[in-house]
Amino acid sequence: MIDNRKKLAIANFKMTLNMSFEIEKWMETFQKATERLELDKSEIVLCPQSALLSYFVEKINKSGVTFGTQNCFWESKGAFTGENSPVLTKSLGGKYVILGHSERRAYFGETNESINLKIKAALKASLKPVLCIGESGKEKKSDETMYVITKQFNECLAEISLAKMEEIILCYEPVWAISANNPDHLPDSNEVMEVKLLIKKLVMKSYGERVANKVRILYGGSVKGDNVEEVCVSAGMDGALIGGASLLPYDLVKVVKALNN
Ligand code: PGA
Repeated sequence: MIDNRKKLAIANFKMTLNMSFEIEKWMETFQKATERLELDKSEIVLCPQSALLSYFVEKINKSGVTFGTQNCFWESKGAFTGENSPVLTKSLGGKYVILGHSERRAYFGETNESINLKIKAALKASLKPVLCIGESGKEKKSDETMYVITKQFNECLAEISLAKMEEIILCYEPVWAISANNPDHLPDSNEVMEVKLLIKKLVMKSYGERVANKVRILYGGSVKGDNVEEVCVSAGMDGALIGGASLLPYDLVKVVKALNN
């Protein structure tokens, strides 16, 4: 219960930390940066590449730090060369899985329908899905943000029961604001809050007020220590999905501290 109200700082390392010296350096810096960090009001979720998950779980032992992956397949086992089973993520010590990220949609052909299957498979494996939804720059310009988010919400969460919905974390991530897409500005706190209210209303409509008050809604897109106050805290978000800045443990800690307050 209380756990569900903790703020979440989810590190999406994407396809980085590829050389062992980079991994060791990151880990060493993370240990130092988090030495005195109290994680009673928040949780740091580290999502490295799947092949690194068990190494992270083994090496990082700090209360309040948990783990996840950046994708999973919609089947739990079988002849699916190259895919990652949600069951494996769970059995290696993962707790979360990021699903529906815009990079997966853009480069790997993921659709709301395939994301829906993945959410169901993740839930079946007792993982908590972190569902990313958000509009592209083009959609924003043509004023389709609310339409796109409503459609993604309804289709990605089709046939998800009330009890299962409580396990899901929603992340508003405007595609144009992701650092890899070189944004020239970020949404201000009012814009983020407006989408948060829409998402909350959608949860309320399908699952009722109790669930709507429980489900955490995060923001993602170029979050770092210097802007977390504006895009997350002032906007009343329950946490952040952090890409680029998660590679800098001291900046990650700055984000966590801001979320804590
Ligand atoms: P960013 O990435 O923080 O580097 O913008 C966030 C994400 O894509 O999840």
